[in-house]
Amino acid sequence: MRKMLVAGNWKMHGSRVVAHALVHEIARSVRERTEAGALACEEVVLCPPFTHLAELAAQFSGSGLAFGAQDVSEHVASGAYTGEISGAMLGDVGAAWVIVGHSERRQYHHESDELVARKFAAALQAGLTPIVCVGETKEEHEAGRTEKVIARQLGAVIEHNGIEAFRTAVIAYEPVWAIGTGLTATPDKAQKIHAFIRSQLGKKDANISLLTRVLYGGSVKPANAAELFAQPDVDGGLIGGAALLATDFLDICAAARR
Ligand code: 13P
Repeated sequence: MRKMLVAGNWKMHGSRVVAHALVHEIARSVRERTEAGALACEEVVLCPPFTHLAELAAQFSGSGLAFGAQDVSEHVASGAYTGEISGAMLGDVGAAWVIVGHSERRQYHHESDELVARKFAAALQAGLTPIVCVGETKEEHEAGRTEKVIARQLGAVIEHNGIEAFRTAVIAYEPVWAIGTGLTATPDKAQKIHAFIRSQLGKKDANISLLTRVLYGGSVKPANAAELFAQPDVDGGLIGGAALLATDFLDICAAARR
């Protein structure tokens, strides 16, 4: 049985003080709700900006929360790569997870499928668990190209890393038109695409396709989380805006149950 996972992607938000207060509140609620038997989600991961990672991971070690980064360099060895952060550096400050191929990186930083595949490899090499994002734009959605786009994005990662990498790696389906817009894929639509993602893995290895966790992201809120997470191929969520509000985030985590 796959464990339910909820990850919060803070994107570029929050000062040190705000970040600390938010994680403090999330950690306190996780503890209370776990003690009360009210938290079904097995894993909760927070992905703050790079600048807050070391401090938060140190301050909240043992809290039951795990930490991840929002991106990683494709370069594994130290070197002259101004502005880049390696997987080893992330691991060194306490990150265990990393998001790769988020649509905002693909869109604003022109990350190609091949670069995303190399970042995924760099994450694995550093012992981090990658959460690789796939998803179609509004235009692709309206043109009926969703499955084609996802097959291409996922195919590049599988080709470069091999199917075995998905024994640990996580996939997040984030339709670009649903991110930060208040629009969500309907639970049926999300289930259909998640099943499609699993079928793509299944072409290479049936067993791995059943093990890999596939998260849904895009305007997940407390009001819609339970219905999305109830779908058989939805194994949790990658949460943006609602991860910046402790109560909303915890209510979403509480909805992640089998
Ligand atoms: P929202 O939840 O704000 O739509 O963002 C989703 C997302 O991009 C998470 O990575």
